[in-house]
Amino acid sequence: MRDLYIRSMSLPEPIPRENYLANLPVVKYLSEKGIELHKQVTFFVGENGSGKSTLVEALAISQGFNPEGGTKNFRFSTEASHSELYDYLRVARGVIRPRDGFFLRAESFYNVASNIDQLDREGGGGMPIIASYGGVSLHRQSHGESFLSLVENRFGGKGLYILDEPEAALSPRGVIRLMQNMDDLVQDDSQFIIATHSPMLLTFPGAEIYQIKEDGIESVRFQDTDHYRTTVRFLQNPESAIEDIGLIHNS
Ligand SMILES: Nc1ncnc2c1ncn2[C@@H]1O[C@H](COP(=O)(O)OP(=O)(O)OP(=O)(O)O)[C@@H](O)[C@H]1O
Ligand SMILES: [Mg+2]
Repeated sequence: MRDLYIRSMSLPEPIPRENYLANLPVVKYLSEKGIELHKQVTFFVGENGSGKSTLVEALAISQGFNPEGGTKNFRFSTEASHSELYDYLRVARGVIRPRDGFFLRAESFYNVASNIDQLDREGGGGMPIIASYGGVSLHRQSHGESFLSLVENRFGGKGLYILDEPEAALSPRGVIRLMQNMDDLVQDDSQFIIATHSPMLLTFPGAEIYQIKEDGIESVRFQDTDHYRTTVRFLQNPESAIEDIGLIHNS
């Protein structure tokens, strides 16, 4: 892939100080320096509340996706809960436009599934929408199965895929399947921008990882993320980790 669909994000206008957005670490950094994307896979990682969802949601809305998730054709809304960051966000796009795209929010994937079923019930001529999602209602599959169906059947390549915690429903083997699918899609000129807490996913080869902290954002190797270190340290010696955090347990 010679160019990325999304090259950078910045905030040219200041956000009023009284707006909670102005105090999010990710927003402060966007205002000061902007964020450049260099790789076909970019991860945003950081503590709960650091602003990852706010950022990827604003990016998705700026690219014409429904705030609650889906393709650009989804227009349903169950609750208007998105922030106004997209009003301020400036996105530099590459020369070539993506041919496919999806915005996945783990939080509202259920509503995407309902919307597909509803549109198919209403009909509209042509192929049912669910056909391109593997043919089985996403409500008749488990959370993880439906998510993998989406990636394996609906993600068509040469696409922009913005994913918020795609690991939420997946077993460790499911995460590996997701990574295999991502690899195929990356080979086929796709770009992924992903908010995640998954140390496994962070090991995706060639990805850039932006770690959000109170004092800014830095590009780090997966081995240097808090998520990876904490998980490895914990799993290497669970007994001592449990003792360290002071759990009272009967053994
Ligand atoms: N309407 C609102 N008013 C005030 N603060 C809000 C509002 N909506 C969200 N926030 C705050 O914005 C912050 C960033 O939320 P966001 O969902 O982007 O975090 P996150 O990094 O995705 O966290 P997580 O890892 O838990 O998904 C949170 O601290 C949240 O409380
Ligand atoms: Mg989030």
